[in-house]
Amino acid sequence: MPAPQPIGVFDSGYGGLTVLQSIVRKLPQYDYVYLGDNARTPYGTRSFDTVYHYTLECVQHLFRMGCRLVILACNTASAKALRNIQQLDLPTLAPERRVLGVIRPTTEVIGRFTASGHVGILATRGTVTSESYRVEIEKFFPALAVYQEACPMWVPLVENGEHLDPGADYFVRKHLKNLLDQSPDIDTLLLACTHYPLLLPKIREFAPDGMTILSQGEIVADSLADYLDRHPEMAEQCSKGGSRRFLTTDSPEDFSRQAGLFWNEPVAAERLNL
Ligand code: DGL
Repeated sequence: MPAPQPIGVFDSGYGGLTVLQSIVRKLPQYDYVYLGDNARTPYGTRSFDTVYHYTLECVQHLFRMGCRLVILACNTASAKALRNIQQLDLPTLAPERRVLGVIRPTTEVIGRFTASGHVGILATRGTVTSESYRVEIEKFFPALAVYQEACPMWVPLVENGEHLDPGADYFVRKHLKNLLDQSPDIDTLLLACTHYPLLLPKIREFAPDGMTILSQGEIVADSLADYLDRHPEMAEQCSKGGSRRFLTTDSPEDFSRQAGLFWNEPVAAERLNL
């Protein structure tokens, strides 16, 4: 039997599982391998070079596992590492393989969700300072007004399983207020970090009524389905055994327990020593 060639899904920690969930719902037939770099999370506060090197290392590992296609289900890695990997590394390392991110698919559609034309981006400090959202949105929806707020505590709250506890309220309210104070016309909030959908119950509780709150899972899943339709040669190379594997660079016991809280089946994670 030929070795599986799963689709790789990468994040600095648990956040990318929110994207994998939507992808699996949309495209259940494929094999998937998820890699969470929990040992080195968070990425959002790290330098461009560090995020690039960590991400490249993880992508190379996924390539060695047989992945032909890797999705960076991490905005920080998409903002800071994707372009280098696509333009500098892939041509020499693996010209026939592909690495895709989550920022482009989101910015291609974000303008469809706002009536006022004012959107708020909630993201890690790394994503906000990269200005990737502003630059990419400008290409597709030049008339949109974009406001941003970095929420450096939100990823640690999720990684430590504190995101639904009362202690999280302070940080959720604080960053929503900082963002919404920038303009009374914001009618759409984008959760531009794949960890943030886990805070959705709290974000909904403290956001004004009627606010549209966008998570990226479905947007990325639709975009991947479209990509595979347009690239049948890639779709053919990705194996379709319906399997899911979960790798973490930290404790597999912790990963299985934490991931199991929001993945709909038990997770048996494996340890990856990079
Ligand atoms: N979940 C990631 C993102 O979308 C990264 C969070 C982090 O490691 O800081 O940005």
